[in-house]
Amino acid sequence: MSQPALLFVCLGNICRSPLAEAAFRRRAAEAGLACTADSAGTGNWHVGSPPDPRAVAEAARHGIDITPYRGRQVAKADFTRFTHILALDTQNLADLTRLTPPGATASLALLLDHVPGRYGQPVADPYWGEAEDFMRTWEEVDEAARALVTLLKR
Ligand code: 4NP
Repeated sequence: MSQPALLFVCLGNICRSPLAEAAFRRRAAEAGLACTADSAGTGNWHVGSPPDPRAVAEAARHGIDITPYRGRQVAKADFTRFTHILALDTQNLADLTRLTPPGATASLALLLDHVPGRYGQPVADPYWGEAEDFMRTWEEVDEAARALVTLLKR
């Protein structure tokens, strides 16, 4: 089977999905899982922008530099380039379902579907929140990252 390629998708691609990408990259590297990862937004407001400073600070607290990340919008090609597309919330999942082109091969799911007891739940958007909300985002995406790595190592 081909190597897993994961795409994490939120609304702006500056808060939640960059953190999900960073956590997953870290956990995959720790586990020696050969894979690729990226993130994108369903919206286009932050295309070309670095992550939100509060997301940058939260990643830095975990020793990860996400300042080189740049926002991009989901593209039709993503549905064949990636094996798994993980939506951070239910609106993102609905938008991705609507955007899915004919011939798509990626599996589409909510990120927290992979965390026991959290099936169907969203990762809350911290954009209008405080630093603590970004800490909570990290905890949620990191738990999902660990669960995904376990699943993909099987
Ligand atoms: P994200 O957060 O989807 O986690 O990146 C947001 C970032 C920007 C906006 C909304 C949510 N915005 O409205 O610009």
